[in-house]
Amino acid sequence: MDSFEWNKIAGWVLAAAIAVLGLTIVTGMIYKPAHLAKPGYVVEGVEAETAAAGPAVVEKPIEAYLASASVEKGEAIFKKCAACHTIGKGEPAGIGPNLYGVLGGPHAHMQGFGYSDAMAATHGKTWDWDAINQWLTSPKAYIPGNKMAFAGLSKGEDRAAVAAYINSKSDKPLAIPAVPAEAAAAPAAAAAPAGTPTSAQPAPSAGKAPDVPVADLSNNAKQPESNVGGPAASAVTGTSKTEK
Ligand code: HEC
Repeated sequence: MDSFEWNKIAGWVLAAAIAVLGLTIVTGMIYKPAHLAKPGYVVEGVEAETAAAGPAVVEKPIEAYLASASVEKGEAIFKKCAACHTIGKGEPAGIGPNLYGVLGGPHAHMQGFGYSDAMAATHGKTWDWDAINQWLTSPKAYIPGNKMAFAGLSKGEDRAAVAAYINSKSDKPLAIPAVPAEAAAAPAAAAAPAGTPTSAQPAPSAGKAPDVPVADLSNNAKQPESNVGGPAASAVTGTSKTEK
């Protein structure tokens, strides 16, 4: 073969490669690979653990959810519990104890039920809102060694709803607590210290206050570099100077 022949072969190979590449690009444009919004399988209980590991752990106290908890929603959630628990008055235990009147009662409240040693040892404690909230967040963490095979409910809202439902099944239901002052005031309190020193500044920045780090605001107000040390602080004051 002479060199011309070789060139022809090389030309065809190159052309084929370009054609394949072109096709790949075009099909890629037509058929977008779909990414699943949720994992294709759900493992019951794993949810609670991943949620606990994530940053979403910043939860309000149970009282904040109880105020608006829906007993109907709690009844629906209780289906998860009903595999092991009865809740009607005088009903026999299942795998777990009957839960009628458990709220306000002692831990291991049902006479004659074969509690684990770990659970029985907590008999002196009362099932108040806080206790049931901790228990339903993670039974394993609240009473290590207990035998309730349930990972927990990751959402405060769900725990409050199911607790409110359980509470409704009682001769003497607990009062739904008022939202504690700290919980209600938390966002306002965070805004207040940021807002006050800036009273000299125009209103719009005060409105945005909760989003802006406090250190940043006080830098703007007076002391150029007292609060935060290091290069970040001087960068902040630097920008605020150029802006004004
Ligand atoms: C797989 C079965 C199972 C499931 C599901 C289950 N539990 Fe339990 N539960 C138990 C067992 C068993 C115990 C007793 C634990 C022990 O003795 O260590 C228990 C104990 C309890 C107690 C303490 C009772 C007492 O007398 O002090 C409460 C409250 C409770 N469960 C609520 C719930 C709620 C609410 C749900 C659903 C969100 C639920 N459980 C789901 C098996 C279960």
